[in-house]
Amino acid sequence: MTAAESTAFRAAVDVIAAVDPVIAGAIVGELGNQRSQLKLIASENYASPAVLLAMGNWFSDKYAEGTVGHRFYAGCEFVDRVEARATQLACELFGAAHAYVQPHSGIDANLVAFWSILARQVESPALERLGAKHINDLTEPDWEQLRQELGNQRLLGMSLDAGGHLTHGFRPNISGKMFHQRSYGTDPDTELLDYAEVRRLAQEFRPLVIVAGYSAYPRRINFATMREIADEVGAVLMVDMAHFAGLVAGKALTGDFDPVPFGQVVTTTTHKSLRGPRGGMVLCQPEYAEFVDKGCPMVLGGPLVHAMAAKAVAFTEALQPSFRDYAAAVVANAAALAEGLMRRGVRLVTGGTDNHLVLLDVTTKFGLTGRQAESALLDCGVVTNRNSIPHDPNGAWYTSGVRLGTPALTTIGMGAAEMDEVADIIVTALAAATPTAASTGPSKAKYTLADGTAAACRTRCADLLGRFPLYPGIDLS
Ligand SMILES: Cc1ncc(COP(=O)(O)O)c(C=O)c1O
Repeated sequence: MTAAESTAFRAAVDVIAAVDPVIAGAIVGELGNQRSQLKLIASENYASPAVLLAMGNWFSDKYAEGTVGHRFYAGCEFVDRVEARATQLACELFGAAHAYVQPHSGIDANLVAFWSILARQVESPALERLGAKHINDLTEPDWEQLRQELGNQRLLGMSLDAGGHLTHGFRPNISGKMFHQRSYGTDPDTELLDYAEVRRLAQEFRPLVIVAGYSAYPRRINFATMREIADEVGAVLMVDMAHFAGLVAGKALTGDFDPVPFGQVVTTTTHKSLRGPRGGMVLCQPEYAEFVDKGCPMVLGGPLVHAMAAKAVAFTEALQPSFRDYAAAVVANAAALAEGLMRRGVRLVTGGTDNHLVLLDVTTKFGLTGRQAESALLDCGVVTNRNSIPHDPNGAWYTSGVRLGTPALTTIGMGAAEMDEVADIIVTALAAATPTAASTGPSKAKYTLADGTAAACRTRCADLLGRFPLYPGIDLS
């Protein structure tokens, strides 16, 4: 970390403190928290100072609806430069034919993807059939019929308890209100994706869209096979690589496991394993480009130009050879963490990992719910999130699992030896937690930790973090 970086952040905090000391205090407090806890949340990372600083400037003030060279606002010369660069770098990084870097988040990217698929597969053919150039030219009855057709399509995605995401057609999310949805799960014995079952379901359900991708499945997906299945049933393969985009960029997932050559439309976040700013992006094959580029006004408003600038910085970083080392280390660390946990008797969903995440079953060995485990680990200095496991007996709120990921700890330089220590801290903490007895049986939320465990584990976490400091050299005191 350079002196300039430290000066920049200290000056920024001073400027903010002069207007709102509460917010300045929260910013400083958050860094303190992140520095004192082992971050094992699989969807989080530590962006570089350059990425963070690219977001804090006057690009935030600019409206720029439209695309490069075709804006609905004047004065977009430098915005165009930013968006064109981010787009070009994204294509280079992922070997994609087209990129759309405007989505503000993963959910937005998925909405852009869904509506560009609907526009190409449903709206365009209807316009052609009706001899119209634009939807505004349709009569009221024709438009009403098209609206019904758009709202009557089918989507097949991974079930939530197998590791899918809410935005893949589940009812609480708008995607579930847009599509008739069915899910594929995992094999009840191996907990692995069962491609034969996906094929059977696709043939039976005949979806317009098949979504591949996950937020809690600890294994690679064979996208060549998923595309084959989609082609067989005339579906579009959409891949949501929000979680593992960094592994794709860093060439830890290649060949059949690289989604970009196979998904007609591929969405991602930029802030998880990719280590960029909070945001989203859509990559697509050429025939979807014109539809994807209409994300604004379809589901987006003005782009966040400051975030697009930071995406470009992150893509430049990910194009460096060191990012390949990073991606390989993320996977190796997840394997080491999984091995350390299993050696200590923990049951892992699927019996291991071959990506960046590990899903622990905390009920079988420790008799805890995910909620209790998540809180007990936080008491001990380890930040995680609870997660459902396949066929979870404790439901989606309490859950029986804890999801761990290695992108963040790998960023600060930890390796396999540290992962073994992390595994030991986790097992020590969970073994010391006991559900509190309630009149109806063991509580699903309350627990007690054996005396001294929290303090001892926190000391061990502090030792580790002392050896691998976060943003070393940045001093905000
Ligand atoms: C697979 C997947 N898709 C989409 C999202 C949504 O991303 P965001 O929180 O940026 O909207 C997530 C976030 O958890 C995710 O894991």
